[in-house]
Amino acid sequence: MTTHELAVIAGDGIGPEVMTQALKVLDAAEQRFGFSTTRTEYDLGGRRYRTTGEVLSDDTLVELDAVDAILLGAVGTPDVPPGVLERGLLLKLRFAFDQYVNLRPVKLLAGVPTPIAGLTPDRCDMVIVRENTEGMYAGAGGLLFDGTAHEVATQESINTRHGVERVVRDAFVRAEARRGHLTMVHKTNVLNFAGDLWMRTFTEVGEADFPDVERDYVHADAMCLYMVTTPERFDVVVTDNLFGDIITDLGAAVQGGLGLAASGNIDPTGEHPSMFEPVHGSAPDIAGKGWANPVAAVLSLGLCLRHLGEVDAADAVEDAAATLLTELGAMAGPTMGGSTDELGDRIAEHVADPSAT
Ligand code: NAD
Ligand code: IPM
Ligand code: MN
Repeated sequence: MTTHELAVIAGDGIGPEVMTQALKVLDAAEQRFGFSTTRTEYDLGGRRYRTTGEVLSDDTLVELDAVDAILLGAVGTPDVPPGVLERGLLLKLRFAFDQYVNLRPVKLLAGVPTPIAGLTPDRCDMVIVRENTEGMYAGAGGLLFDGTAHEVATQESINTRHGVERVVRDAFVRAEARRGHLTMVHKTNVLNFAGDLWMRTFTEVGEADFPDVERDYVHADAMCLYMVTTPERFDVVVTDNLFGDIITDLGAAVQGGLGLAASGNIDPTGEHPSMFEPVHGSAPDIAGKGWANPVAAVLSLGLCLRHLGEVDAADAVEDAAATLLTELGAMAGPTMGGSTDELGDRIAEHVADPSAT
């Protein structure tokens, strides 16, 4: 029997609430499809930081590097200054493990109420490939004369040919395997240096190695319009780290809410573990209420299973989540037709026995 070694970082706020559901669904998938996992839980996040002052030790990083995949709930809490956990834990893992592809599908599932009037599932099925190790996130810049009337803050966007080319290539491969259409999103009209590097790379790689993939380009501001008015225009989208962060929250809204949006931080070389997490954060406003939608965490588990080669299990998990959403009909209101726990139970039951209702 195949065994996959997993690290589990439930994290803060609703992170542990939705992670519990994803692990329940994983139990059902293991039983039905005959594989197993070892799950090492890592107590990282706000509580750990407040009690020990530690965010992520080098030893833990080495341990995490040895697993097959990481499941993460969410990190960040109002009682820790912004950036400490986001940069020190989440971004550190993405960077240290060279997870240069941030894969964020935006798919409207049947039965899910979208805020876009008249939008139907056949018009909304795209995959956003967000560059995940460079750009404004690289941490270049600093404060000078801070605290004085003359203080200066710089925050530079780092874009390397190597970094842009590898993510662009990954997106072309994904487009080839889907509907053969790739859109690059940037602000080449203003960010002329970085935009130029991105555009030349996109065009050169496409012309040389992916002549059958149709290329399109959209400015990031216009993207926010088109994602709402004509999402059917997009198949695979490749974009820079910060634009990708912003447009994937918009994508989450279009597909019915952050509680439904999954993501994978992927090292396509397989040298390091990839990490799977919902697009949403720790949602301090609803933490502890039992209202958090676990579907994003469950669909992130689905991406993880696919990455690990458990394709049948991944299909079953995605089908179970989709079936639940169809059954729920309208999820309007904070409880979505069931508590976090009830929804997790129902998805797990569907995975165990798809004929059950
Ligand atoms: P958020 O994603 O936590 O919440 C935004 C809104 O969406 C809130 O109203 C929240 O209630 C709602 N929401 C989020 N997930 C939901 C779910 N599963 N079900 C129902 N509603 C849901 O974003 P925020 O409030 O801007 O950030 C809160 C904290 O999370 C911050 O510290 C931020 O840095 C961090 N964060 C972490 C991650 C991550 O760990 N991957 C991602 C985004 C934000
Ligand atoms: C996300 C989050 C993170 C990001 C934060 C928490 C560092 O918003 O995963 O989308 O900006 O990438
Ligand atoms: Mn984000």
